[in-house]
Amino acid sequence: MKKSRVSNTAQANLLMLADLGIEEAVTFQSVLGFSTGILGVFSHIPMADLLPQCIALISEVLYERTNQLIQEHDNPLILDLACGYSPRVLRFCDPDHIYIGVDLPDVAEHLRHHIHHLVGAKAFAHNHYFSADLTKYEELDELISSMNSSETIITQALLTYLTLDQKQMLMDQLKALLKRSGGCWIIPDAEPDRMLPEVFEAVLGSGALSIYEQVISILDRIVKRDRTANGWQSLDEITEALESNGFTVTKVPLYTDSLQLRSLERLSTECAEQIKDNWRNTCSLVVEVK
Ligand SMILES: C[S@@+](CC[C@H](N)C(=O)[O-])C[C@H]1O[C@@H](n2cnc3c(N)ncnc32)[C@H](O)[C@@H]1O
Repeated sequence: MKKSRVSNTAQANLLMLADLGIEEAVTFQSVLGFSTGILGVFSHIPMADLLPQCIALISEVLYERTNQLIQEHDNPLILDLACGYSPRVLRFCDPDHIYIGVDLPDVAEHLRHHIHHLVGAKAFAHNHYFSADLTKYEELDELISSMNSSETIITQALLTYLTLDQKQMLMDQLKALLKRSGGCWIIPDAEPDRMLPEVFEAVLGSGALSIYEQVISILDRIVKRDRTANGWQSLDEITEALESNGFTVTKVPLYTDSLQLRSLERLSTECAEQIKDNWRNTCSLVVEVK
């Protein structure tokens, strides 16, 4: 996958969280100033005006549920792989946590360049952003070798972009790291094949499937993704691949009632309830090595 094009999706995630008024995202967006025009690539699709509402639901539930799982497991190091412009560093900017985000050089350097405005005086305490191409063995190996405390690793969206060989390399490295330091690996989006179509169906109603297919084909073109090379799209496939590589996988619900999601408040009660029901039956994964 190519860097600057893929980072458009990271910008869109931040824009959605900022538009919902999530404080740390508003701070990030006020410093980074991304243009809302990036969603214009979908403008010719029917009901394009409702797409931001759909994307916001997914960005928010993945962001907040991951934060909740990080808190539940409470490891001192949070290693956010392919972090994009996630403002998570501000949620976990406290004496008990060290947040490290890893992304391609253009994203990581962009964040490092603005670090003092993003994080304030606390920025001096750690290097929060590391550059690494996670598809390259040497870069992944160097990154993983430098980690030495019990950690919560996060991969959101990353797996769907990687080829099977690249996923194997990532699993080998993360297994070695978890064996050495302990902790867990959180995959919030373990059912990528379900999330977008189900939200589209609830929000857009009839025609949702065709709109979903158009959106995905535009996204695949933007990030130059070849889904036939990537394998692993469904929950069963992801779980089986992890278990056969020696991981212990715990399925947890993507949605819990303790999440107070602003994006759901923008919907009718009926639509919000349908989405919550879907999400209660959608899994995120907590992956460990025992
Ligand atoms: C969909 S975004 C996910 C953003 C983030 N996880 C979030 O929660 O907003 C995908 C991110 O993966 C990064 N990325 C793509 N290829 C990568 C690679 N080979 N190594 C490291 N990061 C990569 C992109 O730069 C982009 O920021």
